[in-house]
Amino acid sequence: MANERKATAVANANIALVKYWGKRDPALILPYNGSMSMTCEGLQTITTVAFAGEGQDEIIINDDELRKDEKDIRGHLDRIRKLAGIQGKARIVSETNFPVAAGLASSASGLAALTLAAAAAAGLQLSPKDLSILARQGSGSACRSILGGFVEWKRGSQPDGTDSYALQVAPPQHWPDFRMVACIVSDKAKPVGSRAGMAQTVATCPYYPQWVETATKDLETVRQGILTKDFLAVAAAAELNALKMHATMMTTTPPIIYWTPATLEVMHAVRAWREEGIPAYFTMDAGPQVKILTLEPQLAEVERRLSQLEGVARTIVCTPGQGAALQEKHLF
Ligand code: PMV
Repeated sequence: MANERKATAVANANIALVKYWGKRDPALILPYNGSMSMTCEGLQTITTVAFAGEGQDEIIINDDELRKDEKDIRGHLDRIRKLAGIQGKARIVSETNFPVAAGLASSASGLAALTLAAAAAAGLQLSPKDLSILARQGSGSACRSILGGFVEWKRGSQPDGTDSYALQVAPPQHWPDFRMVACIVSDKAKPVGSRAGMAQTVATCPYYPQWVETATKDLETVRQGILTKDFLAVAAAAELNALKMHATMMTTTPPIIYWTPATLEVMHAVRAWREEGIPAYFTMDAGPQVKILTLEPQLAEVERRLSQLEGVARTIVCTPGQGAALQEKHLF
């Protein structure tokens, strides 16, 4: 179509070292606590968006017509159309190089790529801050994937969310040796999505105020550790932070337990390796997969040991990655 506006963006997922878990404003997606992540080269989504059609938005993710998150994505498109003052229906084709909805932050890379591509296709010219604010409203963790390297999502305090966005704390080249190894223990979609899981936690977990209080302290520790490249400080705080988040999930009503026997197998193995002096720590998100934090010199040994664990189907190694970017090559 001659006047079709088309844009393609690539975005990496991110691994939270200090987690976001709980919204103080569910409509605007404003968090109770700030969070910190590493943008992950190795877990990528490419998305092409064109606004030209009539009828319904057409959304194809990894060759499948989307069903599950369709409503959220249409809502996000409406937000962008409204901002740009356009009406055309969208055609979206999106590809990820890792299993979606299995706790590998596919919503982060997916919504970051969608936000950037759709904003560009709609003719909007937004700063990284405004893109981050927009991506946040699609999926909270996506606001961090707009930026590269080590990224903090500011909690903010404004009711309209204008001060709740992601900022780069350090670029990828600041700490090129940092590694995250995602261990796939299950390719199945998670039983409770993060949106429902965190709402239930805020509403019913008796320890939720303690989570917010300690996560805020963890954020200071991890930020300082990143700036000084203190791996033990960052990784130990990240591991404990993930365990605290899972403790809140497990103590909601009804309880949410994402771990499988394989999740625990990896967690115990990592702790035992540490006793032998290998700098390896774990973190998990809203799913069964375990993500191991280590450094490049120990990567081969960590991977060798992981390959011997029965529950680990495969691993994906990530390095500190770039933020979301537009590319010339389109998917259609
Ligand atoms: O933004 P969501 O709905 O994908 O939530 C992400 C929540 C966690 O992955 C569990 C933590 C985080 O900060 O990424």
